[in-house]
Amino acid sequence: MKDYWWQEAIIYQIYLRSFFDGNSDGIGDFKGLIKKLDYLDDLGVDALWVSPHYESPMDDNGYDVSDYYKVSKDYGTIEDVKEFIKEAHKRDIKVLFDLVLNHTSDEHKWFQAAKDPTHKDHEKYHDYYIWQSPKYDDEGNKKPPTQWRSWFGGGVWEYNEPTDEYYLHIFSKKMPDLNWRNASMKRDLKNITKWWIDLGVDGFRVDASNHLEKNWKFPEAHPGYEHFSSLPKHHDYLEEFGKELFIPNNILTIGESGGASQEEALQYAGFDSKEFDLLIQFGHCWADSDDSNKLTEGKWAKGHLYVKDIKNSFQRWNDMLKDKGWNLIYWHNHDQPRVISHYGDDNIYHNISGKMLCQSLYFMPGTPIIYQGEEIGMTNVDYKNLHNFRDVEVFTEYNNFKQNLTPEPIAMQALRDRARDNARTPMQWDNTIHAGFSDKTPWINVVGNYRQINVQKESQDTNSILNTYKKVIRLRKELNVAFGNLEFIDIDNDDSYIYKNELADKIILSISNFRGKHIGVNFDFDISGYSLLMSNYKAQVLAEKMLLKPYESLVYIKNKEV
Ligand code: GLC
Ligand code: CA
Repeated sequence: MKDYWWQEAIIYQIYLRSFFDGNSDGIGDFKGLIKKLDYLDDLGVDALWVSPHYESPMDDNGYDVSDYYKVSKDYGTIEDVKEFIKEAHKRDIKVLFDLVLNHTSDEHKWFQAAKDPTHKDHEKYHDYYIWQSPKYDDEGNKKPPTQWRSWFGGGVWEYNEPTDEYYLHIFSKKMPDLNWRNASMKRDLKNITKWWIDLGVDGFRVDASNHLEKNWKFPEAHPGYEHFSSLPKHHDYLEEFGKELFIPNNILTIGESGGASQEEALQYAGFDSKEFDLLIQFGHCWADSDDSNKLTEGKWAKGHLYVKDIKNSFQRWNDMLKDKGWNLIYWHNHDQPRVISHYGDDNIYHNISGKMLCQSLYFMPGTPIIYQGEEIGMTNVDYKNLHNFRDVEVFTEYNNFKQNLTPEPIAMQALRDRARDNARTPMQWDNTIHAGFSDKTPWINVVGNYRQINVQKESQDTNSILNTYKKVIRLRKELNVAFGNLEFIDIDNDDSYIYKNELADKIILSISNFRGKHIGVNFDFDISGYSLLMSNYKAQVLAEKMLLKPYESLVYIKNKEV
């Protein structure tokens, strides 16, 4: 068991654009974030992961960077950033920025030179990106080199007339992928990273980190994800950054990579790893996708929630990293729906299920990442029209739905259930206009339930979801919950979520019902000696057979016999 500050820390994710508007233009910014630092301090968080703040045309809300050395005008100035870091540090809160290394914006000066053969720097920058010559169909028309599918739903190739080539973009066409085999490009990215380290950041969340290497043979495939995801060489690139920049500067790094094996999990986030300290993976994030639904495919098809899949994923990651690395626990980030709408009930059991989701997850070992608004039970959107949505991914997928002849109500419901915008609406601070986020019309509409669900109201209500989060955060630290040993009980039961977390001197027993109906549970281990720590209904005494109410959650604790 190592001893790093981040093992007992609570990380909180800030989606800057939607957190708090400090200058009345309807967009969240650093000035606004600074004003809310006391709220975050009071909540008990130790580190903030802030979504990309660099200059950007905002095709993908800042994940499309046009200048890594500049702060987006939407978010403030470099002085604001320095002030933010200073104010956060004053409160003993660490600052983690989002590092986007897989692609730039097509408006970045590198790409401007790369795509234009007459540009004076064309020679140098062309190979910063990934280009291929066209293929031709039987009639002699140009066609893309492959049928690979972008993560946002269209093809991955965009034609560039001046060079008569296609460039690769695994996200939007305004986000060309960088060529990590180019040494000069890598050097430039290292300089950028060092520049932000020198400014005083404590860590980075490294975006899309398993996509850095591509299969340069460009074989035909559809969707072809295996040709631009998790290829072995991306580990070399990450290790290079780790050895040269992150480790010597004592920088916390959180990688992002879906679907890693045990070997890879340790490669990324083992204590001996030179790549990252922690890893975000998505094993538990889509436990309710319906593969048989062809109207809205993949993540867009909501089906039965397999609670057992959530548990098995958490247990698997826990076991893979056990003693050899460190695990993260989180429900979701800015790319998935709101957890209360997704795995809980955002309607009649809003309060009860919001607390259940808190108590079920955050008594597990590991380091939590709480996503902004989760602590008050913010919900998915209530939008009626396509034009209420903002995310670039929504529009490419909506076209796919139309091509599949998906009926309009089903397409719109898929967006309300699954779109990334669900997690990106303005933080609900109070019951005044625009939820107190801004006094101007926000860049994306607030959810209509802000009058009932907001920070101000929940702060005053001892029975609120917010106060449950505060209490759990405090207890995590008091009890050293992070360092325990996790063991799910009846892991393949598809309704209950029950585990023991064995600490040095105590055992926590967390029992939750993930369904909106009563369920029976029984225990065949020694249940003596436990006392109730938390509940979301009236207290229940622990018994061998129990009936759990809808979304009921009970946490018990006992001293270990010595
Ligand atoms: C990551 C980000 C996501 C973004 C994508 C491209 O998955 O979390 O929001 O769209 O990378 O940068
Ligand atoms: Ca603003």
